[in-house]
Amino acid sequence: MSTHLTLIQGDITQQSVDAIVNAANSSLLGGGGVDGAIHRRGGPEILDACRDLRGSHYGKGLPTGQAVATTAGRLDARWVIHTVGPRWSADTDRSELLASCYRESLRVADELGARTVAFPAVSAGIYGWPMDDAARIAVETVRATETAVEEVRFVLFDEPAYEAFAAQVG
Ligand code: AR6
Repeated sequence: MSTHLTLIQGDITQQSVDAIVNAANSSLLGGGGVDGAIHRRGGPEILDACRDLRGSHYGKGLPTGQAVATTAGRLDARWVIHTVGPRWSADTDRSELLASCYRESLRVADELGARTVAFPAVSAGIYGWPMDDAARIAVETVRATETAVEEVRFVLFDEPAYEAFAAQVG
């Protein structure tokens, strides 16, 4: 079955999908950007679940490029899939780690049985990844990944981000 790619300009916390992906940091304990918005709107249940993960599987934090799911608390979605994007580096090519965020998030979505998944532009905010390149990696990776997810919705916060993704989706 092929996965449908859709694009929307808006706020990921408002999406009615099975799972929304959080551009987290490896502490899993919150931050700014999408991460801050998800914890604010989703309420304390998400942070409690993240603390539990730190106490069990991820004592040292979630490694860059990996993904893990929690409840979505008060959000419409059923699950939040937290992934940790790489920081942009002009010296080192970290593209494979960014691609891994998309692949691993879809793998977790498949484990959960999620059929609709919303992604933000992972690493393209506070972590400084140039938007055009972040969009290329996101779209190419999702297209190349075998998954039972029926819709991948990229939720872009502003118009330049939306345009960058639109140029890749074609
Ligand atoms: N909905 C959709 N997209 C959003 C939203 C939103 N509500 N808010 C911001 N964006 P960022 P990163 C866009 O910084 O670069 C946090 O502190 C934003 O405009 O959220 O992976 C974490 O804890 C940008 O295009 O994530 C980490 O420490 C994109 O989402 C660090 O930031 C990603 O920006 C992760 O940085």
